[in-house]
Amino acid sequence: MKIAVIGSGGREHALSWKLAQTLGEDAVFALPGNGGIPNSHPMDINDFEAIQAFCEEKGINYIFVGPEVPLANGIVDFFNQTVIHALGPCKDAAQLEGSKIFSKKFMEKYGVATSPFKTFDKVMDARDTVFKMNGNLVIKYDGLAAGKGVFVCDNVAEAMEALSEMRLQYGEECPFIIEDKIVGDEISIIGFTDGENIKLLLPSQDHKQLNDGDKGPNTGGMGVMCPVPFWNDELAKEINIKIVQPTLRGIREEKMNYKGIIYFGIMIGENGPELLEYNVRFGDPETEVLLPSLKTDLAKVVTACLDGTLGEIELKFHDGYFVDVVQVSGGYPKSYSKGYPIFGLDLVDDAIVFHAGTALKDGNIVTNGGRVLNFVAQGDSLQCAIDKAYEQCAKVSFQDNFFRKDIGQRKYKVVKINALNS
Ligand code: GLY
Repeated sequence: MKIAVIGSGGREHALSWKLAQTLGEDAVFALPGNGGIPNSHPMDINDFEAIQAFCEEKGINYIFVGPEVPLANGIVDFFNQTVIHALGPCKDAAQLEGSKIFSKKFMEKYGVATSPFKTFDKVMDARDTVFKMNGNLVIKYDGLAAGKGVFVCDNVAEAMEALSEMRLQYGEECPFIIEDKIVGDEISIIGFTDGENIKLLLPSQDHKQLNDGDKGPNTGGMGVMCPVPFWNDELAKEINIKIVQPTLRGIREEKMNYKGIIYFGIMIGENGPELLEYNVRFGDPETEVLLPSLKTDLAKVVTACLDGTLGEIELKFHDGYFVDVVQVSGGYPKSYSKGYPIFGLDLVDDAIVFHAGTALKDGNIVTNGGRVLNFVAQGDSLQCAIDKAYEQCAKVSFQDNFFRKDIGQRKYKVVKINALNS
């Protein structure tokens, strides 16, 4: 088996790292990868013919698609016409992430627990709803928006401003939804599916805001931990009954061609767990802790998804907690400089470093993106994993680097921590 991982971030480094453990580094190619992923090759990830030509030249027979855009553009449908096996949903099923309207209607049809919503196709038409709901709502642009199409509002002024922003970004006539806001604790539940079964990885929690205390602008993710400290059998059961099983029923009944990753973005609020969104790919940075925590051979899981034999696989996990602290470029998520040398990588001896925005320049690793490096540590307790991740992170620096100091130390809003370190 030779496999190409499509994408260039920390997620794709973690995927390549995990696959290389059993397949060997020479059998895992990153397209385009980055400065820290072995066997990285420049590639436009939306040029499917170029990917096919590269795979044919290298004898690659599998591809693992990291990001959502090529999936929404039909990369799996394209490769289904070839002898190369591509892991991921077909274009139709990728709408579960690519269209908020499609996914909310799917949730409604199959009884997946989620907040009530209304659809719109003109910005002006939403004004009455905004006033009726006192602006306490969430506005979501229908299509993929690289994290920029969701507006969480507390009052009418914020909601009106969000509508203006929507008009500016997408025009007066654009599809979007307005839904009730759920206040609570957000978690990511990510698993594999072969279209008939879903096998879940450990529950994880992203830290999306830039600054400590969940303040500041939204980012791609400043850190993550798994499992979440409040996880217990009761919560797992509730999520399975209210969200995972109805989703699987929908995938089966709609006869979706879906062999890949399914990601449930869940809010645990006063009504218990409710689904905020689906993603049809691994999360970033969630993957950077989920794959180190997975004992099972990822290559075997990939082939089981594609063969329809996922039901025969039992996922096994390492003990303890996993914490990832992300170092970013100063200025991120707005504008930032690139090309700064990175110092101290060779000093890291008790964490995995997954590269995100890095490049190789004259044989040296330099910064090349907003999120630059992930420092992933394992500990018997959550605190131990946190301490280790920060200790290792402190050994590495570059000009204007920045990271949150409170990953894994969140105060929970709704759930009670009753399983911490048990
Ligand atoms: N961590 C959030 C995402 O990957 O969408």
